[in-house]
Amino acid sequence: MIIFGSNGRLGRSLSKEFPEALTPSHSEVDITDKVSVSSYMEAHVPDVVFQGAAWVDVRGCETDHAKAWEFNVEGTRNVVDAAEKANRECYFVFPSTACVFHGDRGDYVETDTPNPINFYGVTKMMAEMIVTRMKNHLIMRTDFVERAKWRYEGAFTDRYSTSVFADTLSKGIKKMISEKRTGLLHLTGKSKISHYNLARITTPEVKKMKLADVDIPLPRDQSMKSVKGGDFLEVEY
Ligand SMILES: NC(=O)c1ccc[n+]([C@@H]2O[C@H](COP(=O)([O-])OP(=O)(O)OC[C@H]3O[C@@H](n4cnc5c(N)ncnc54)[C@H](OP(=O)(O)O)[C@@H]3O)[C@@H](O)[C@H]2O)c1
Repeated sequence: MIIFGSNGRLGRSLSKEFPEALTPSHSEVDITDKVSVSSYMEAHVPDVVFQGAAWVDVRGCETDHAKAWEFNVEGTRNVVDAAEKANRECYFVFPSTACVFHGDRGDYVETDTPNPINFYGVTKMMAEMIVTRMKNHLIMRTDFVERAKWRYEGAFTDRYSTSVFADTLSKGIKKMISEKRTGLLHLTGKSKISHYNLARITTPEVKKMKLADVDIPLPRDQSMKSVKGGDFLEVEY
C-alpha cells in the first residue's frame, strides 16, 4: 500500500492505522511531477493506493486557480496514470470533500449532483471523475478536523457539517479498505454540528465568527449522509 499525503492531517493519522504502508513525503514524490510518480510506482508496485495528497487551502485555491488545478487535478491524474500503468487491478482510494456540494441545504447523499461554489470544490470534483477510470476505485467524500487545538482564532456559528475527528475517520477508512468497498461513498459523522460547537470540543476559548466575516465562498451547510452504506465510523457526538 502507498499513502500519498502522509504528512498531512489525515495522512499522519491514517499512516498509524497502516504501519506497513509506504508513505512517500511531498519532497520524495511530488504528484505534480509525472515522472517522479511513475518511477516511484514502477519501483514499488502497489496493491492499494491512497491518493490523499492535495492543496487544501480553500482561500489559496480561490486566488491561484492554476496551482489548484495543477496539484489537485493534474496531480491526481498523474497518480491514476502511474497506478494504472503499474497495476491496473490495484485498489485506488481517493478522499474527496463535501465542498463538491453547494452548501445551501445540507444532508447531501451520494446521488445528489455536485455543484461546488469554490474552486477547491471544483478541483476535487474533477479529480473524482479522473479516479473513476481506475477499475477498483473508491471515492470517499468526508469532512474531518484534527483532535487538536482549533487551527484558527475563531470558528463559524453559521456553518454546519457532519465532520469527525481524523483518528475516528482513519479507523473507519481502515475498516472500509478491509471490506474493499468500491464506488462512491459518503463517510461522515451522524450529527450536523456548527464549526463553532465542533471547535469548542477541543478549544473552549475559540471565538465566534460568522460566514459574513470572510470574503471567500464557503458552503453554509455541507452536512452529508450516506444512502450507500457508508456507515463505517464510530462517532462520539
Ligand atoms: N480537511 C478536510 O476536512 C478534508 C475533507 C475532505 C477531504 N479532504 C481531503 O483529504 C486529503 C488530506 O487532507 P488534509 O486536510 O489532511 O490536508 P493536509 O494536512 O494539507 O495534507 C495534504 C498532504 O498532501 C501533501 N501534498 C500537497 N501537495 C503535494 C504534492 N504536489 N505532491 C505530494 N504531496 C503533496 C502535503 O505535503 P506537504 O505538507 O509536505 O506539502 C500533505 O502531506 C486531501 O485530499 C483533501 O482534499 C480533506
